[in-house]
This record gives sequence, structure tokens and C-alpha cells, in this order.
Amino acid sequence: MSLANAEARPKDLSMQPNIPAVQNPDNVHDFVHTGANTLAGRYLRRFWQPVYQAADLKIGWSVPVNMMGENLTLFRGASGKFYLVGNRCAHRGTQLSTGMVDGEGLRCAYHGWKYDATGTCVDQPSEPRPFDRPLKIAGYPCREYLGLVFTYMGEGEPPEMPYFPHFDGEGLVVSHRIVWPFSYFQHLENAIDEAHIGFLHAVSPYQGGINNEVPRISTEESEFGLVQYGSRSNGVKRATNYFMPNLTSWAQPPGFPAETDWRDMLGWRVPDGDHSHVTYTVTHAHLTLEHHEAFHAHRQKEWEDLAKMTPVEEIADDVLSGRMRFNDIPYRGSGADMTRIQDRIIMMGQGSIVAREHENLGEADIAIKLLRQIWSRELTALRDGKPLKNWARTMPPPRSGL
Ligand code: FES
Ligand SMILES: [Fe+2]
Repeated sequence: MSLANAEARPKDLSMQPNIPAVQNPDNVHDFVHTGANTLAGRYLRRFWQPVYQAADLKIGWSVPVNMMGENLTLFRGASGKFYLVGNRCAHRGTQLSTGMVDGEGLRCAYHGWKYDATGTCVDQPSEPRPFDRPLKIAGYPCREYLGLVFTYMGEGEPPEMPYFPHFDGEGLVVSHRIVWPFSYFQHLENAIDEAHIGFLHAVSPYQGGINNEVPRISTEESEFGLVQYGSRSNGVKRATNYFMPNLTSWAQPPGFPAETDWRDMLGWRVPDGDHSHVTYTVTHAHLTLEHHEAFHAHRQKEWEDLAKMTPVEEIADDVLSGRMRFNDIPYRGSGADMTRIQDRIIMMGQGSIVAREHENLGEADIAIKLLRQIWSRELTALRDGKPLKNWARTMPPPRSGL
């Protein structure tokens, strides 16, 4: 292709070694295992991570949640604040999410032991005398931002929360949560793999349209992570931002008539376990106040209509098992939905953890190579007790257009 030959080949970023089947907590190339004793897990825990959508948990309710292999309980106190504690009562180990919210604490349903925001047991109603030793389960701080509940599961004082000023402007901010049955890292790599858009998603009839020309990919490290550029022959250079350690930011065509520009998107990929993850997507739609209500109604209807159709899990299973051809996937009325289904199938097709030793990365994968290099560099520093890169807490809006 002429574009590819126009410049010198990009600097070769060598492939990373294999991830061994047996986990080694010192393997600086293993980004997919995220338990508390793994390097990647320790690294992810140094950042605020979304754990729930705020609107999904009412005051006085508690739910079980999984974060990076840890089973936890999220509850919402009488004040409306969120708290994240362990999922096993320190008394005789029943599941704490079945307990009752009591003020700003949570009481176990079995014998009524009560836990505060830090996971400290502050009351044991069935005991005539207090214990002579502290009773504590896990407890992690929570904050709300962009409609999401964030938690900090690392050691010491939490860092500043990330902040994205372009989400403050006029417009509407909405979030969405989806569980995916494969490693979070596959999804992060997919998000900076613009070369797949013009092929995999070529049949997605996005409103506003996309340019299906396969772009020339370039990339560079930045103060917040990296930027992946997709250049096309019309001179348009689209940028996708990767915000360390597990957030990407891109622009997406509008899906509602009153929107005046492409949407600003944020997508966190948070492992619940090593073989699955949760995506928290935040959308900033550009539209004036008088259209907010109609936008909400439109969005609500879109999700309700989709819920009545064949579940995505079933479609994915049909395609992966050969009962349906990829090009026969039914269009369910939304380009964004079609894109999600297509992405789900190809990432499931990689296996729940991709076997990297069989990959052959090319020039179009240069951003993925750089991402792995950055991650390995940071995990090496973490392993060796050396200083880590101090990433910026914000990033500019991604550039739109294709
Ligand atoms: S098991 Fe929770 S109070 Fe007894
Ligand atoms: Fe995609």
C-alpha cells in the first residue's frame, strides 16, 4: 500500500516473551493475572478503579462485587455514600452482602456483628464483653465521579482521582456497565487497534458514517500513557488516548439527532477475575439542556429494545460454534450494538487469555507493542522497588473524525 511505503519502517518494538502457564509473581510480562500478590495486580491497585455504577445501588442496599480476584461487598450508607469491605464476616464467615445497612455501617445477617467504612468490626451484640483484639476485614475507600463509584485498593494514601475537564462542559454524561468473558488486557489492546475498525466493523451502519479505509497506525508515549494515531489518505489523523493503566478515551459518532458533535468516550476495563472483566463506559454527548430528557428516553428505549432481542451471548455462541456466519449476525437497530457484538466475538475467539506466544505482530500493531513495553517497564520498576512513572491525572479530549 502506498501509504505504508511512504515513510521509513517504524522502530521495531520487539515482541514480549511468553506468559508461562504457571504464574510467576515476578514476571514483568504478565499483565493478565491481577490477584493481590501479582505484579500487574499490585500495579493496578495503585490507581482508582471503578467498581460500580452509582445509580445501580440504592441507599440501604449492599451487593457482592469482585475486583481483581477479591470477593467484596459494596454497600450504600444512609447518607448516600458508598463503602467497600470484605465479603466474609470475621465471626463465622458468612457472606456479608446479605447483611443489613445500619447508618454508615453494615451488620452481618447471622449474629449482627457490625462493620464500619474501614472494615473494622465495631459491635458484636451477642458478646457480653468486647474482644481483646481488633477484628477487621478488608475496607477500601470509595469516591463518586462521572456517575461511577471508584475505589482505591492499594497500600498507603490514595493518589488524586483522575479528572477530565472536557466532561464538565455543556452536554450530558451517561455511563454503562458490561461484563465480558475474557481478560481485561485483550479489551485494552483492542481499543488501541484502530486497524480493525475498517474491517471488523465495516458493516456497522453508524449514524454519521465511518471511513472504512484501513488507517496507517503510529503511536507515541505521552504524559498520561500513550496516543495511537490512525492516519488516512484524506489527511485525517484520528487519535485514541490510552490513559494508564486501564482506561482508553476515543471519539464516537453521535447516535441521536440533537447531538452537535462526536461523543467523548471513556472506557475503563476492570478485571473482576483473570478470565473476565467489567467495562465501565462513560459517554459525554454534546447537546443542549432542552434535549437532555429526550436523549435519556431515546437511550432507555434503545436498551429496552435490545433486551427483547436475542441475547448477545447467544449470538456469540452461535457464531463461535459455527451455527451462524459472522456476516449473518442480525442487525438489531444500533450500530454501537453491532460493534459491541463483533468485538465480543473476536475477543472471545482469542480465548479468555490470548496465547501471546503464537502471535505475529506487525506494523499495524505498533501501539499494542508500545503499550506492552510501557507496562513491562513499569512492572520491572515495581518489582525492583525503583521509581514508577508519575502519570498525569488528566488528558485532552480525543480527536474526532475518520
Ligand atoms: S457470622 Fe457474621 S455475625 Fe456471626
Ligand atoms: Fe472494535
